[in-house]
Amino acid sequence: MKTFYVTTPIYYANGEPHAGHAYTTIAADALARYHRIKGNEVFFLTGVDEHGANIDKTAETEGLSPQAFCDKLAPIFTKLWERLNISNDIFLRTTSELHKRGIKKFLTALYESGDVYKAPYEGYYCRPCERFFPEKELADDKICPIHKLPLEWVKEENYFFRLSKYQDRLIQHYNENPDFVYPESRRNELLNVLESGLEDTSISRSSVSWGIPLPFDPEHIAYVWIDALPNYITALGYDADSERYHKFWPADVHMMAKEITRFHALLWPAMLMAANLPLPKQIVAHGWLTKDGEALSKTRGIFIDMDGDIGTYGVDAFRYYLLREFSFGNDGDYRPARLHARYNADLANDLGNLLNRVLGLVNKNFDEIPVPTTPDDIDEEIKGMAQTTVDQLDAQMETLAFDTALETIWEFVRRVNRYIQQTEVWTLTKPETKPRMGTILYNSLEALRFISVLVSPFIPDTAEKIQKQIGLTEFDTVAEWGRLPAALKVSKGEPIFPRVDLKKEKAPKSDAVKPKQKSDKKTTDLISFADFQKLDLQVGNVISAEPIEGADRLLKLQVDLGTEKRQVVAGIAEHYKPDILIGKQVIVVVNLEPATIRNVESQGMILAASGDSVVLATPETEVPLGTKVR
Ligand code: MSP
Repeated sequence: MKTFYVTTPIYYANGEPHAGHAYTTIAADALARYHRIKGNEVFFLTGVDEHGANIDKTAETEGLSPQAFCDKLAPIFTKLWERLNISNDIFLRTTSELHKRGIKKFLTALYESGDVYKAPYEGYYCRPCERFFPEKELADDKICPIHKLPLEWVKEENYFFRLSKYQDRLIQHYNENPDFVYPESRRNELLNVLESGLEDTSISRSSVSWGIPLPFDPEHIAYVWIDALPNYITALGYDADSERYHKFWPADVHMMAKEITRFHALLWPAMLMAANLPLPKQIVAHGWLTKDGEALSKTRGIFIDMDGDIGTYGVDAFRYYLLREFSFGNDGDYRPARLHARYNADLANDLGNLLNRVLGLVNKNFDEIPVPTTPDDIDEEIKGMAQTTVDQLDAQMETLAFDTALETIWEFVRRVNRYIQQTEVWTLTKPETKPRMGTILYNSLEALRFISVLVSPFIPDTAEKIQKQIGLTEFDTVAEWGRLPAALKVSKGEPIFPRVDLKKEKAPKSDAVKPKQKSDKKTTDLISFADFQKLDLQVGNVISAEPIEGADRLLKLQVDLGTEKRQVVAGIAEHYKPDILIGKQVIVVVNLEPATIRNVESQGMILAASGDSVVLATPETEVPLGTKVR
């Protein structure tokens, strides 16, 4: 049996987990579950990073010892993971004995490599990052590039790891293993860092007390990253040379967001090389989840109301939205209005209604699942599409394209809906057509079973509900057509995604659609269809976006329409940061008279829903540039 070992970062236990942590963990969970249904033996690690000055400081402000503080925080993480249906096999805490034993063995091996030495050190230090920044990476204001906080000048005697020695071996490893860091943009970025030269790095802190003492000099505490990175092996029982360690190491995927790839893709492999251990197979970095284009930040009050949204839409809708909406390597802006739209369109309408409709027809016309006796060409098409969906999904999961993988499944969901429509199955009630009705309904149920298997890595609870409702008592994970036994009793069918009506529920906070001001439009306000047809609306791709000096509300966009490029001025600067617009498909009014706004020519207009907030109108799925919108 093939093994698959996937990890998330171990998150700092100095605050409660937020939607950003949830995103990585859900993505890793989807991958772990996908490999399980493929029949692989999976080990899935997540956990918490509990040492270091930051945690010590936060604990102190709460009047707790660091250990008591961590003991309070760790269950908050595990409770969230339970709520989000995360199927991790271990929850690693760096204060655990298992980890401490492993670290001791690993640091001893590192020391014995001869690549650890003691030296004085001074430099710019970011406490929240728990790292020094080389001066060449900093601007004159000496602000942390991640936290945007002033750096401290810190002077201490430290142990160092001879990272510089591993530069050539790392470059060679990158070249021999082109997928070592994924996506490619990150790989290229790291190769550039590697080629510009690596400096030795400090691995201990003499000024910190909350951490693991170095086994070869207990006066010094292991630097928090040196303590944290080896968690990926200590969790497997590296200390005892365990069977699990040998089975699962090297890891298949270390998953994380982009800001910590340097530690994982430069320092960690070099440490492993020094200790003479195999390197992880792949370091995978996704983008950041943002809110209104800004990084999530507790101190600045930028957060996602994960709890509220899960309360309104359910865990699976939250998981679905994150995995469907964001393209894995890129940053993605979290929008409650999009979650709402996805819930109603994809989950309630496409999938929920399909299940309900099919169950309703079976219950009305049969006592149990009918035997398929009268096959037709259209049935073969559905069966064929089920298989191609699996093949496409497999290819897309290889590159962690969760969004396109889900779109592929939903194409099949929509095809099955059309199958019901095209065959007008509900009309086939006469005795002579009833066998055909039975065959179509059997195929629809089998398609639903198939869909439940395919969606199970992403929305596991829903997958189980579907199988239960179609009468299966044990979850069948095999995507092979025809496994659904006839003669099962299907359930009445409770809606799996009951409609969420925002009028009753609390409206999404920032991007709620404003209620219509005037609903009593007179006929005289109406326009003719011919007038509407005068509009030339086309889909374009934003290729650049920049602010306009002196105009806080405006952005200058370049939009590619396929056959030509247009410059458009849009009043969206308060709602969109320029960066997140790049690559977005928008709808452009192409035949609008050009206008000059703040000295900038605007050759068209882009459409947006404009209420309390402004939300760009964008095609449901990507379409060729220049596609007409009617
Ligand atoms: N403790 C270190 C990791 C050590 S791993 C050996 C750490 N912890 S952290 O709490 O800061 O977690 C960072 C990780 O949390 C990111 O790499 C990412 O996986 C996740 N995210 C935190 N905020 C996020 C977003 N806004 N968006 C996406 N992921 C986010 O670094």
